[in-house]
Amino acid sequence: MTTKADAAARIETLRAEIRHHDRQYYELDTPEIPDSEYDRLFAELQALEREHPELLAPDSPTQRVGGQADTAFAAVRHIEPMRSLANAFSEQDVIDFDRRNRERLGVEAVAYTAEPKFDGLAVNLRYRDGVLIGAATRGDGETGEDITANVRTIDAVPKRLEGETPAGILEVRGEVYMTRSGFERMNKLQAEKGDKVFANPRNAAAGSLRQLDPEITKARPLTMVSYGVGAMEGERPGSHFALLERLRSWGFRVSEEVRQVRGVDSCLDYYRSLGEKRDALDFEIDGVVYKVDSFEDQAKLGFVARAPRWAVAHKFPALEKRTTLLDIDVQVGRTGAITPVAILDPVEVAGVMVSRATLHNEDEIRRKDIHIGDMVWVRRAGDVIPEVVSVIDPDKRDTSRTRAFTMPTECPVCGAPVVRPEGEAVARCTAGLTCKAQLSASIQHFASRRAMDIEGLGEKLVDLVVANGMVGDVADLYRVTEAQWGELPRMGKRSAENLVVALERSKETTLARFIYALGIPGVGEVTARTLANEWGDLDAVRHADGETLERVQDVGPIIAGQIVAFFAEAHNHAVIDDLLALGIHWPAPVKAASTDDSLVTGKTFVLTGTLEAMTRDEAKEALLARGAKVSGSVSKKTDYVVAGRDPGSKLDKATALGVTVLSESELGELLTS
Ligand code: IVH
Repeated sequence: MTTKADAAARIETLRAEIRHHDRQYYELDTPEIPDSEYDRLFAELQALEREHPELLAPDSPTQRVGGQADTAFAAVRHIEPMRSLANAFSEQDVIDFDRRNRERLGVEAVAYTAEPKFDGLAVNLRYRDGVLIGAATRGDGETGEDITANVRTIDAVPKRLEGETPAGILEVRGEVYMTRSGFERMNKLQAEKGDKVFANPRNAAAGSLRQLDPEITKARPLTMVSYGVGAMEGERPGSHFALLERLRSWGFRVSEEVRQVRGVDSCLDYYRSLGEKRDALDFEIDGVVYKVDSFEDQAKLGFVARAPRWAVAHKFPALEKRTTLLDIDVQVGRTGAITPVAILDPVEVAGVMVSRATLHNEDEIRRKDIHIGDMVWVRRAGDVIPEVVSVIDPDKRDTSRTRAFTMPTECPVCGAPVVRPEGEAVARCTAGLTCKAQLSASIQHFASRRAMDIEGLGEKLVDLVVANGMVGDVADLYRVTEAQWGELPRMGKRSAENLVVALERSKETTLARFIYALGIPGVGEVTARTLANEWGDLDAVRHADGETLERVQDVGPIIAGQIVAFFAEAHNHAVIDDLLALGIHWPAPVKAASTDDSLVTGKTFVLTGTLEAMTRDEAKEALLARGAKVSGSVSKKTDYVVAGRDPGSKLDKATALGVTVLSESELGELLTS
């Protein structure tokens, strides 16, 4: 047990720190520490205050809900206060939560709603007679900021409720957030314009929501999911789950991951299964929220200080961790781009060991003031490459143990000069495909799953055949014999055999894959597919001029220029002819045959569940090739939901919205009609 004097001093420090971070987080949108670190400080303060109740003060951050409202926006008082949630950091914490609920309610097992804890910003929407009349941030829980004009620009926020409209006042609570893909896109744009780049989707959402000009907010990819109500006139459903259904019927987005569960074991199962999906989701969640489902039971349980007794946030491991940046390496990419990469003291971030993280480019290193030897925050978000977010206490860095980074002037692989054109952020090796690093990366891209899909031809193997001169361009891959593959280190007879089969199989491809595989700068999968669909013919693409290319959807002058430049290289034509001569082929264009009158053209599909005859990716490809759209979620705009085995909640949603549901064989018929 700490002495009282020690505890008092530590409590004081913690309170000051937490107040400082509250301000950074709630008012300035520029947190200096990750949420996990904040939670740690908060938990330490709570523990000390529990141990020394005589030191508890009414103005302690543990007794408040959040930050103070800022002055840039008008203050609005919420009709019913916006509470916050107690955190559970371990299964034991959840077991204790459930035990207390069972004891207080005097029941054997409690029914809960389990739902994702969205990592965005809480907002309160106010409706009168079904019409949106205001929107506010949470602020300190009692009073928030009026952000009505900005919230109105968010598509997912209904301006007028659908269906049986509730009379009088209704407060709807939910989270405004930015998808990961939207965040990536937006940050890229911001960086290109030289504007503020955000550390994570949450900060980006916060910054976007608190713009003084709603036009700026409108251009940001924000969305909202609703998870509850505040004040509500008229009759309430009996349970939280039923309330969510009602919100959905009024036109709010409600998470598709919400489940009704019974007992603590089911809560923990839900936590584990959502945890497994976490990386694959296009939005960030920092945990799971369990809420006692029955409103009657919620009322019996009531509140303590800032949080309800009937709910708890079960946190996931943090996406950010601290570690030492040991060195900075440089990597040469497919187009010669030289990327600095942080070599880290290995650290586990949300279940994955991270030992390298991208630093993007030289300017980024300067902007973040990163030195070799610094202590840094590292972030791993989903499939995105880990990133160094910021330096911890750069002012306190020990200059005898740290040093600044300088970009090499020569390519570390081939020795050719490195140039960084005026006004560009990226430095490049000037050697083109004579640089083995560039060649190797091009071949890896060519062989990758979404390109030619050559199974078994991984990074190491490609590096090896390039390094020992067996392969000078992608076409050479098809000339390496089984015996030659077999002689390579760690390649058994079996692997060599399989590789030759995979190479042979890859010769049968699609035009879209082939165009993508060429690795034309700026031409990703989507553009490759559009080009293939629109023209259906490689020759047309090879010989198009910039103006013709720009008529293609999503192709602007920059990409058009890159495509023209790629095909201006005689070497590239030679390799393509070589590949065609080696037998690479694709089916005749679908468009000329049937796209225009295909039954699926222009329709929006959602695929759910496991398909038998084809994978979901294959079905998607077939639909896209015929001019259909494929979306990840069901909405009123969906034309068809294709339901395979174990379809899950998307099927329920389709039924609720009256969307036509197709079986896999019905899809097959549509595709071949
Ligand atoms: S319910 C009284 N449900 O977490 C309960 N909150 O610490 C009020 N949050 O301010 C909140 N996902 O920003 C609830 N499914 C969810 C949530 C959620 C994210 C956030 C919200 C709130 C904070 C509570």
